[in-house]
Amino acid sequence: MNPRHFLDLSDFSGDQIRHILKLGAEIKAGRRRGERAKERPLEGKTLAMVFDKPSTRTRVSFDVGMRELGGETLMLTGKEMQLGRGESIADTARVLSRYVDAIMIRTLDHAMVAELAQYASIPVINGLTKMTHPCQIMADIMTFEEHSGPIKGRTIAWVGDANNVLASWVHASARLDFTLRIASPPELAPRPELLSWAKQEGARISVTTDAFEAAEGADAVITDCWVSMGDDDEFRRHNLLKPYQVNSRLMGIAAKNAVFMHCLPAHRGEEVTDDVMDGPQSVVFDEAENRLHAQKGILAWCLGAANA
Ligand code: CP
Ligand code: NVA
Repeated sequence: MNPRHFLDLSDFSGDQIRHILKLGAEIKAGRRRGERAKERPLEGKTLAMVFDKPSTRTRVSFDVGMRELGGETLMLTGKEMQLGRGESIADTARVLSRYVDAIMIRTLDHAMVAELAQYASIPVINGLTKMTHPCQIMADIMTFEEHSGPIKGRTIAWVGDANNVLASWVHASARLDFTLRIASPPELAPRPELLSWAKQEGARISVTTDAFEAAEGADAVITDCWVSMGDDDEFRRHNLLKPYQVNSRLMGIAAKNAVFMHCLPAHRGEEVTDDVMDGPQSVVFDEAENRLHAQKGILAWCLGAANA
């Protein structure tokens, strides 16, 4: 049987995404009812977590999530592994597959994650690449729906750099049937291949350079840092992205009950102001918490827990 990888939302149907989200929501509800101790579906399983880049949320939420489901984790960094001295990705995948039950990896190199998955006989989970961040968007959908109801048919505005997080939002929009409006400077607009994929999949996506046009009447306004990991043109990006700051003026044009979302870490005073981050529309810390719950659904599904 092929391993159940979790690499990109574009690999899944809307129903499959819903199924994994439901698993996460059920585990979350059980935890709230105090059933944490008796539900340990991943007892005896080990997740290797490979980090080539820094992380707070992804690292802690996968670690805690795996433990709360009864499993164990192992932290590795690319530099400490023989990968850093030239061992091939394929051989690394084959070797890790003999020791652990799943691999979660964060590295900028998307092709490396795909290659790891190709040669691993165990599930591989994408914990962020330069191209996408699917685990984040699972938590984001869960958060949006908890606050605002079903995302189907709603309008989501992305304002800022069309980065890895946005790419996974594009994938989600094609699968979960919502409208995505993207506002970014032309220099930092979505990749044409991503947009043509979305068009071919029938997604409802618009691209503009005007943040207000995108945010008008939207049910959620979302942004991310101006300089992502691996970006080296900090000064240029700050200049290009200044008009895309999410502040009270921009939130004021969105729907009355619109939520503000950000995957975090936030750079207060840059892409978002303090009053929006800390204001009543902000759901950023629920979003961070939901990394834990949504990823439990992903872990349960990848590792074939009962009912998964
Ligand atoms: N949102 C997110 O992935 O955060 P970390 O970089 O802290 O993991
Ligand atoms: N776009 C950001 C997300 C961090 C969680 C980055 O890639 O650095």
